[in-house]
Amino acid sequence: TGLITFDPGLKNTGITKSSISFIDGEKGELLYRGYPIEQIINQCSFIETSYLILNGELPNTAQLKSFSEKVKKFSFIHHKDINKILDNIPVFYHPMGILSSLTYILDAFMNSIQEEDLYLHLLAKLPILAALTYRKRMGLPPVCADPYLDYTSNLLKMFFSVPNKSYEPNPIISDTLNKILILHADHEQNCSTTTVRLLGSVHVGLFSSISAGMSALWGKLHGGANQAVIEMLEDILKSGGNIKKWIEKAKNKKDPFRLMGFGHRIYKNFDPRAKIAKKVAENVIQKLGISDPILKLAKNVEKKALQDSYFLEKKLYPNIDFYSGIIYQAIGIPKDMFTVMFALGRLPGWMAHWKEMKLNKEPIGRPRQVYTGYKKRNIK
Ligand code: CMC
Repeated sequence: TGLITFDPGLKNTGITKSSISFIDGEKGELLYRGYPIEQIINQCSFIETSYLILNGELPNTAQLKSFSEKVKKFSFIHHKDINKILDNIPVFYHPMGILSSLTYILDAFMNSIQEEDLYLHLLAKLPILAALTYRKRMGLPPVCADPYLDYTSNLLKMFFSVPNKSYEPNPIISDTLNKILILHADHEQNCSTTTVRLLGSVHVGLFSSISAGMSALWGKLHGGANQAVIEMLEDILKSGGNIKKWIEKAKNKKDPFRLMGFGHRIYKNFDPRAKIAKKVAENVIQKLGISDPILKLAKNVEKKALQDSYFLEKKLYPNIDFYSGIIYQAIGIPKDMFTVMFALGRLPGWMAHWKEMKLNKEPIGRPRQVYTGYKKRNIK
C-alpha cells in the first residue's frame, strides 16, 4: 500500500482538529464546548445550546435576545416558490428526502446573505421546511411561524395547528422537544457531520452541504435508526413479544438483522445521551398520562440484551436512537418524521463544523484507496 494507511470505515483516522464537541467513549462522556451534556440538558434551551455550539460560548442575556430575535426575523421562506415545488413532490416520498430536497432548493434564495446571518437563516427556516413536510403528508395547509413563541413552541405550532382552531403548545411537550433536540445538537465526526465538512472543503455552500448531511443522516445505521427501532419494537410486539428470539436473531451472523438502537463506534460502556433519553421518555409518558407498551418493551429488550454475553463482550449498549423514537411518538410525531426531528437537532452541529472547517482553511477532503482491480491491459 506504499504510504497509504488502510483504514476502512475511518475507524482510526482523525480527519480534522475540532473544538466543538468531545466524546470519551470509555467513560461515556459527552461535552459541548467543554460543558457536560447532563448540565446543558437541565440548564439551557435548544436555542442557547445552538448559540453555544456555533459561537463557542454560552450567550449572555443580551446576546441571547439578539440571537433569538434574529432567528424570529428570519423565520420565513419564499412560500409561493417552495410550495409550488412541494406540490410536485409525491406525497408518499419519505420526509427525509423531501426535507433535504427543500433545503437544497432554498440555497437558490440565499444569494445576497452575509455568512454570519446564513446560519441564523437556516436555524430559522429548517423548522418551517420540516413543518411543511409534515403538513403535506397530513393534508394540512402551510403555516407561518409565530414570532410570539419560543423556538420549540413555535415548531410545535407550525406542525400541529389546524385551520380555524386556536393552538396552545403544551409546555411539557415543548420542554421535552427542547431536551431531545439538545441531545442531538452535536456529536463530533459522525457520518453526516463528516459529509458536511467534506462538501464544505470543496466550497459547496452551507445549505447544500447540510442537505447532503441530511441524506447521510437518513441512513438506517445513522439517524434513520430511530425509525428502525420503533418498527423493530412494533414487530417484536406483533410477533408475540418473544425478546429472546429477536436477540438470537441479532446474534446470528447469517442473518443481516441487527438490534437497532444498539452499538456505537465510540461509546463502549454507555451512551450518555441514551441514559438521558430514557429518563426523558419515562418523564413525558408519565406526565402526559400515556400508556405505552413500547416503552416497557424497550426497557425489557435493553435488560435482556445487557444480560447476554454477545452484547457484553462486543460492548453493545443502547444508543441515543433506542429511546428517542419513543419520545417522538409520545409527543405526536409520526414514525417517518423521527429522522427529520434528529436533523432539526443536529443542525447547529453541522453548521458549526462547516464554519470551523472554513475558519481552519482545511484542504479538500480527498482520501486515498488501495487499488484491487486489473493491472494495465489492452483491449483486444
Ligand atoms: N446488533 C447486533 N450486533 C451488532 C450490533 C447490533 N446492533 N452492532 C454491532 N454489532 C456487532 C457487529 O456485527 C460486529 O460483530 P463482529 O465483530 O463479530 O463482526 C461488532 O458488533 C462490531 O460492530 P461494527 O459494525 O463493526 O461496529 P461499528 O462501529 O462499525 O458500527 C453501528 C456501529 C452503530 C453502525 C452498529 O453498532 C450498528 O449497526 N448498530 C445498529 C444501528 C444503530 O443503532 N445506529 C445508530 C447509531 S447511534 C446514532 C447515530 O449515529 O446516528
